[in-house]
Amino acid sequence: MIQAKPNIQGVINALDLEAHIEGGYFRRTYQSDHRASLETSTGPRYLLTSIYYLLTEQSPVGQFHFNQSDILHYFHLGDPIEYSLMRADGSLQTLVMGSDILSGQHLQLPVPGGIWKASRLMDGPHGFGLISEAVSPGFDFADMEMADRGKLTAQFPQHRALIEKLTRNEG
Ligand code: GUN
Repeated sequence: MIQAKPNIQGVINALDLEAHIEGGYFRRTYQSDHRASLETSTGPRYLLTSIYYLLTEQSPVGQFHFNQSDILHYFHLGDPIEYSLMRADGSLQTLVMGSDILSGQHLQLPVPGGIWKASRLMDGPHGFGLISEAVSPGFDFADMEMADRGKLTAQFPQHRALIEKLTRNEG
């Protein structure tokens, strides 16, 4: 018998998530309004912000994007998520967040600012994967750049196939 997957829409509703421009779903859960803001080269920012971030079968990819801020990722529930991290020197790191720590999956993933990052839900029984992110300096769209497929493949031609899989085709 094929087992019915848990209600993915139920998870979205329970956590009150909305669609993210990267793909997937999110909700901000914290911003440090009670502290002085941080002066950065791109303007004042919260010291810290945090979100839930969910990938689902219907929206399984967080497209390549670049963050100035440092981001700590924490795995919570569901199927594993593969992360692709691309540094300015062209080096690529691939790792998996998930609960199977005995087979090398990661519960935590620190990603310093200055790296291109994408994520992809892996196959599994749940049909979703849920993490949290803590961002410092706090998230601001001005500090995040969504990848342009053409520009990113021109910069990293050795990773063309991966970039094409993990960016939107807007051209
Ligand atoms: N990515 C990490 N944090 C955030 C946030 O607070 N808002 C949005 N839109 N994306 C994020």
